[in-house]
Amino acid sequence: MTSTSASVSAHPQRGVAFEEALRAAAEIAVHSPSSHNCQPWGVGWANGTVARRAAAALLGPAAAREHRVAQDDGEFLVLALDRERRLTALPAHGVEMLISCGAYGEILLRSLAAQGWTADRIRFLDLPPAGPGTADGAAGRVFGDRWPRAWAPLCVVRLRRTPTPAEDLTELRATVRARRTNRGPYESAGVDPAVLARLAPPRPGPALLRAAPEHGPEVTVRHVVADAERAAVADLVSRHGGRDFSHPLAWTETHAFIRRDEAEAEARGDGFTLGQLFGPMSPPRRLGLRIALAPPTMRMLRHAGYHRILARQLAAMVRRSPAVVALGFHEEAPGAGSAVRGGAVLADYWLGATRAGLVLHPVSVVLQHDDVRAELERRLGLPGRAFFMSRLGLPVTDFPPSHRRAAHRAVRRV
Ligand SMILES: Cc1cc2nc3c(=O)[nH]c(=O)nc-3n(C[C@H](O)[C@H](O)[C@H](O)COP(=O)(O)O)c2cc1C
Repeated sequence: MTSTSASVSAHPQRGVAFEEALRAAAEIAVHSPSSHNCQPWGVGWANGTVARRAAAALLGPAAAREHRVAQDDGEFLVLALDRERRLTALPAHGVEMLISCGAYGEILLRSLAAQGWTADRIRFLDLPPAGPGTADGAAGRVFGDRWPRAWAPLCVVRLRRTPTPAEDLTELRATVRARRTNRGPYESAGVDPAVLARLAPPRPGPALLRAAPEHGPEVTVRHVVADAERAAVADLVSRHGGRDFSHPLAWTETHAFIRRDEAEAEARGDGFTLGQLFGPMSPPRRLGLRIALAPPTMRMLRHAGYHRILARQLAAMVRRSPAVVALGFHEEAPGAGSAVRGGAVLADYWLGATRAGLVLHPVSVVLQHDDVRAELERRLGLPGRAFFMSRLGLPVTDFPPSHRRAAHRAVRRV
């Protein structure tokens, strides 16, 4: 656990058991999905007097009172967006970053609940609407000098020791490790409707939301299985999927996450290799792709329509997938809290799909540009605002896991 100075805990013995549980939970949560595998999350463990008092105060008068009078009023965590690790090339990345943080927060809290530490209070901090430049690190100063300047706090959680773990930690860890983005082909046979029905709400619900029932259901999950509807999604991908590659800023940012080989991916602990993006390939094809995907080459090749070829390849994958899943907010303009909660629903869904033997391959390009997203919502009759769209099916081939930074780097005592 990273600490910038000696512990200033008000009760030196208080946090020992929790520290171990948090360490184990962070080791699991680091395997959460994130756009480009950028891992834009941080979590502050309020350990010092200033940070604990601030966290309790943010959770409302009752929590603040309990904090003043109780010897042991639990542990406080603050989930944050690490602004140094976020993607910024497109406005839509603002929501994707908060979704990624929400997914991490969900898996962290579930891993803690599986060790008997249950969130009983949560407060989503009212940041300005989710845009790349808006999440503010200054809001974290309330947690004291040790709060990292680059971290924008997203929500505060209080956890209490409970006698019974919420689920089996070993099984949860195995599911989280088995979950991965699978960009390969899927079995063409349809997915059992009963399995899809079990994945859609109502489910027990994400751990991040159980402590905040006042927010109610905000997310719809829609399975797209009809041929005509899947064809409509594929058509949009075919027509617009090249925008990723032809947008110089967005492509330069994406390309910065493509690692030369496994060794570089492991050393950096983030991003992806060409193998993870395009599946296993021969050394000559790898070399050809490396040259073609470099931003200067891409700038030239787009005049020859190379981005459209890549879009048509992705569209063909979508067309051949037995299902597509769309997650959407009820609201047209979700705030930061809704986006974080949306990420928790996504993590809960993706783990449920993994347990059912299914795999996902997000296709975010159809959501990243307002005109394309609006057309997608209209053609599928989706209410509100879609925030996640993915191929879904039974895998034909296994996909290698992507790399992660050391888990402790995202955790700070504050
Ligand atoms: C909000 C969000 C959007 C994503 N969009 C895409 C996408 O458009 N294309 C893609 O191939 N992967 C996408 N991914 C998957 C990530 O690239 C992936 O989670 C990350 O590389 C880590 O790999 P893993 O999921 O195998 O652990 C997305 C993930 C998240 C959380």
